[in-house]
Amino acid sequence: MALKLKNNLEKKIFIKTFGCQMNEYDSNRIYDLAKSINYTKTNELDKADCYVLNTCHIREKATDKVYHDIGRVKKNFRGRKKPIIVVTGCVAQAEGDILLDREKYIDAVIGPQSFHKFNQVIKNIEKKSLKENLTDFDVKEKFDTLNYYKNSDSSVSSFLTIQEGCDKFCKFCVVPYTRGTEFSRPINELIKEVKDLVSNGVKEITLLGQNVNAYNYNEKKLSNLISEISKIKDIKRIRYTTSHPIDFTEDLIEAHRGNKKKLMPLIHLPVQSGSNKILKAMNRKHTIEDYLEIINKLKAVNPMIRFSSDFIIGYPGETENDFSDTLKLLNKVEFINCYSFIYSPRLGTPAAKLSEVDHNISKKRLLTFQNTAEKIKLKFKKNLFQKTALVLFENKLKNKDEFFGRDEYSNSVIVKTKENLKGKIKEVEIKGGNQNTLFGEINKKLSKRNLVA
Ligand code: SAH
Ligand code: SF4
Ligand code: F3S
Repeated sequence: MALKLKNNLEKKIFIKTFGCQMNEYDSNRIYDLAKSINYTKTNELDKADCYVLNTCHIREKATDKVYHDIGRVKKNFRGRKKPIIVVTGCVAQAEGDILLDREKYIDAVIGPQSFHKFNQVIKNIEKKSLKENLTDFDVKEKFDTLNYYKNSDSSVSSFLTIQEGCDKFCKFCVVPYTRGTEFSRPINELIKEVKDLVSNGVKEITLLGQNVNAYNYNEKKLSNLISEISKIKDIKRIRYTTSHPIDFTEDLIEAHRGNKKKLMPLIHLPVQSGSNKILKAMNRKHTIEDYLEIINKLKAVNPMIRFSSDFIIGYPGETENDFSDTLKLLNKVEFINCYSFIYSPRLGTPAAKLSEVDHNISKKRLLTFQNTAEKIKLKFKKNLFQKTALVLFENKLKNKDEFFGRDEYSNSVIVKTKENLKGKIKEVEIKGGNQNTLFGEINKKLSKRNLVA
């Protein structure tokens, strides 16, 4: 009887997430908050009593996507009781008022540093249909509140936000305006959250921050935090993203020498352009020479290390020469994964006032860049064939005797097996694969590892 009563009160929440990994972390934490006011997670839009759109503002069309998405939800619920509609994330922060004004179907907008007030907002809407716009930068208060709610993520590999915000002000970027200034969470609070995640079965942690290597809490840096987390036995792997070259200090480089077992050898280090002239125009605060020095130092402490990066193609003022410098850098470093986009002017950023490179030229350059990047990526993958990779397994594939996992470079690996490998690390012989997935067999004999370096 009591159970039945509870089920009647239970409501469903559906969250759709755009943007970076931090938005994924935030969405998980919104689920954790909402659970305490009787909302359980659903993956079916039709069943939602509350629909949350967690948005990203990094490139153009972000706001259009929001209107489009809300339009679809509206159509879906036509003639029925509408769900509570909340827009969270970076579009909410940047354009909250405009959203509420233009799309009456939206009940509330909540910025990335205010979502700890989510439950209060929902209760207010339930009671009085109040429209709310919460976009204060309460980052300390946010984490103080979130600490009361256990992180219930039970994936094998989980995200953990350790740092937020950005003081760098690259001329093209909205992040300092949507996430606020740099803030680092206390180390003891983070260790507690890692232990909670371990108790849920988590084996791999990816530490997140807009400038994750700028982490600094009472003089404790990212290297100190990594070393503390490494002491937790059941954490088998640690990754961190996104780093900024100017915060890549010696202690972090040394961490890669001393902690090869847990600290994974793939480093995401956005460079944006291969031209010093463009880096200066972007206000990136480092040169290509500085960047290559970091790469060389990291390879010296661990030759297994490989890099991934972000690139902006067609930044205002980019000439053919500048672009060819970018291609040179790509070929020199042989990034194993690149995220590349055409420059997109963002209202309110200093670069938005500059005159743009012809869009057709940018499109052509992007294509050239991406073709080269894909060739490098494939070469790297082919180099793994017939070798042994260490794979952390995450989940069984639906309706198949196959298990999915990731190697140390985050490559997707699939093996045929009837065994439940969830959360286990196994040696896998890579038999073949393509651009996206490697296929392998579990190595039964104990072998000597034969990897890429
Ligand atoms: N903090 C990280 C990345 C943050 S945003 C860093 O410093 O690199 C993620 C990526 O989005 C950036 O690396 C950049 O490549 C891309 N990006 C940001 N603003 C952009 C814009 N206006 N146009 C195109 N790409 C952009
Ligand atoms: Fe944006 Fe630059 Fe800050 Fe990265 S470092 S978040 S690109 S302003
Ligand atoms: Fe997008 Fe905001 Fe992340 S703009 S990339 S969701 S910090």
